[in-house]
Amino acid sequence: MNKFYIETWGCQMNEEDSEKLSGMLKKLDYTKTENREDADLIIFNTCCVRENAELKVYGNLGLLRKLKNKKPELIITVCGCMMQENDMAKAIRKRFPFVDIIMGTHNIQMFPEYLKKVKEDRKAILEIWDKEESIVEGLPIDRESTMKAFVTIMYGCNNFCTYCIVPYVRGRERSRKPEDIENEIKKLVAEGYKEVTLLGQNVNSYGKGLEEEINFAGLLRRVNEIPGLERIRFMTSHPKDLTDEVIKAVAECDKVCEHIHLPVQSGSTKILKDMNRHYDREYYSSLVKKIKEQIKGVAITTDIIVGFPGETEEDFLETLSLIEEVRYDSAFTFLYSIREGTPAANLKDQIPEDVKHDRFNRLVETVNRICAEINKDYEGKTVEVLVEGKSRTDENKLMGRTRTGKLVNFEGSAENVGKLVNVKITKAQSFSLVGEEI
Ligand code: 5AD
Ligand code: SF4
Repeated sequence: MNKFYIETWGCQMNEEDSEKLSGMLKKLDYTKTENREDADLIIFNTCCVRENAELKVYGNLGLLRKLKNKKPELIITVCGCMMQENDMAKAIRKRFPFVDIIMGTHNIQMFPEYLKKVKEDRKAILEIWDKEESIVEGLPIDRESTMKAFVTIMYGCNNFCTYCIVPYVRGRERSRKPEDIENEIKKLVAEGYKEVTLLGQNVNSYGKGLEEEINFAGLLRRVNEIPGLERIRFMTSHPKDLTDEVIKAVAECDKVCEHIHLPVQSGSTKILKDMNRHYDREYYSSLVKKIKEQIKGVAITTDIIVGFPGETEEDFLETLSLIEEVRYDSAFTFLYSIREGTPAANLKDQIPEDVKHDRFNRLVETVNRICAEINKDYEGKTVEVLVEGKSRTDENKLMGRTRTGKLVNFEGSAENVGKLVNVKITKAQSFSLVGEEI
């Protein structure tokens, strides 16, 4: 039987695309392997949001050259966001001529056809679709987890933050029909799934352009009604579009978890303006205040970029002070990375690497200290955990997450994998909690 190996870089959108590719391959009687050397087909699903992600792809492709020499029948496929960048696919073809299939993010549904063609006439395929087509429903999907599932509710982004390449590679916003989303989730529940994460670059603008009048708050309420589903999560929320109606829906819907991922990017109003974020520091602060008042026990997490062009020490200190004010449960922290083709790439005042790194270190220190302080508050409390399986750090323990998204390693009964249990937290660590099932 044929074996495939798939490596995924980047966000949950890419992970979901890889699950779809796996689903298509399983239908073609391929089985998955975790070992590249064993594979008859290797897929790299790439990300281009920062330069680092691209460097990893180049490095890994370089390593495949030897493998392909040893095993000429090996089929190599490169896909994902990086392929949608101007001239990137051609550059990959030139530099790594042994790649068999190059495709983009808008045509993954064509993969079985490309694969068949390559096998038949052994000619390389390069096909990138520039324009997003209408949404393709019903692709098979082979999910990593048997209890938690990502469900994309909208594709693309219309925001054009000046640092970001996503709108150029993922296209404009398109929402899935609510009944398609609902049916997918009902099917998941019937298969035993307990938790869904509704995905989109900006879930708060869900519904625009659909025939049926519905917004994100409405969708949350509708999904909340699905019997047997236990937990609903969602990401990502652009602060400018997070309405009172959504906050109210999160507060009122029992299945919607108390966690909002609310990327701030910077605490400085001047930098936010240059980033084209459409909000200022005051607006963001008051939004967080409102969320905390209305959603009891909410965890707030964020994305932060340091070293955006023109960022002064004062601007950076504003970011630090905002972190102290909001007290994030966790934050993804990034060094600004120039992305050709985005407006910020042409800004004059780029920040020297050493300054960026110094700020990054101070940022991480602040984020981690607060995260550890928040975790400490969990000691002695009892929390609901969805049991995912064996702990990765201790064979004898189980692991799962709280509604607020905290990772818990705990002593408990393996019979409860896939179920919700109550866990008493005995000890807080910097990035996780330790406890015992009660
Ligand atoms: N440089 C650094 N970080 C970036 N992000 C997006 N583009 C860039 C870039 N050019 C970050 C943002 C976004 C997250 C997914 O990636 O913080 O929210
Ligand atoms: Fe990129 Fe901004 Fe769209 Fe997020 S909202 S994907 S950061 S352009």
